[in-house]
Amino acid sequence: MYRVLVLHGPNLNWLGKREPEVYGHTTLAEINEQLTNLASELGVTLKIFQSNSEGALIDTIQAEAEWAQAILINPGAYTHYSYALRDALASVAHPVVEVHLSNVHRREEFRHHSVIAPIATGQIMGFGVDSYLLGLRAIWSLLCEKKG
Ligand code: DQA
Repeated sequence: MYRVLVLHGPNLNWLGKREPEVYGHTTLAEINEQLTNLASELGVTLKIFQSNSEGALIDTIQAEAEWAQAILINPGAYTHYSYALRDALASVAHPVVEVHLSNVHRREEFRHHSVIAPIATGQIMGFGVDSYLLGLRAIWSLLCEKKG
């Protein structure tokens, strides 16, 4: 079983009621359920964590650094300015896949820049819940390639 840490950043606990015209009606619990279903199909064990706090996300990355083989993260607004989160992700030698529900390049200018992207293996955005599911599939492929 591969081991993947899934991190959801700030305000994602409010999915479903938060700007539904941008993020849709799917709740975080539903996203986690879809991820868990796909993970069991792929033979992946997930640890899933959401926080509105930068420090708690960083603490979790450090605490799970040994356990996790890869990280799937939607950093929320931290994407655009958290050098601390970026440094934490860069300091673990795992593949990192950055995902976003929305296509940030179609939105406000401040969302166009990601400080996480340069240390990520790749980015997937604009497909709603499917961004997460595609991200998990991408991680699974990476881990299979490493093994082989
Ligand atoms: C987001 C995009 C970010 O710009 C925003 O701050 C979010 C959600 C997304 O999933 O589309 O909180 O990461």
